[in-house]
Amino acid sequence: MMKTTASLTIAAALFAVATTASAERSGKDVYSTKCFVCHASGAAGAPKFGNKDDWAPRIAKGEDAMMETIHKGKGGMPPKGTCADCSDAELKAAMEYMVNAAK
Ligand code: HEC
Repeated sequence: MMKTTASLTIAAALFAVATTASAERSGKDVYSTKCFVCHASGAAGAPKFGNKDDWAPRIAKGEDAMMETIHKGKGGMPPKGTCADCSDAELKAAMEYMVNAAK
């Protein structure tokens, strides 16, 4: 009985570690820890969060063009928006989070 409980506990602990390690940050998480620094206020000429006029011409260029800017940086926009450890999927989610807020 004791043995079963112990292995179940270990299995649960391993599962918890595995889920945390591979968990992808949401677009909102990435935005609110990294991107907001400039995009919340429009600092350095950044298109402002939730501002349709700021985002419309960028949305019109398409998501691929915006992803290229995110990767390489442009003007005041640093490469990967300062999220050096962000995956492509996380950066894209953060972009979509901002794009959806400006539609
Ligand atoms: C240090 C300030 C700063 C941070 C941090 C930042 N940005 Fe930006 N971002 C800018 C500026 C400035 C521009 C406008 C660049 C231009 O068009 O000259 C911009 C433009 C963009 C654009 C439009 C790109 C285009 O092609 O028009 C996207 C999308 C974007 N940022 C996403 C992000 C994401 C996602 C993050 C967080 C991972 C982020 N930014 C973090 C400053 C920042």
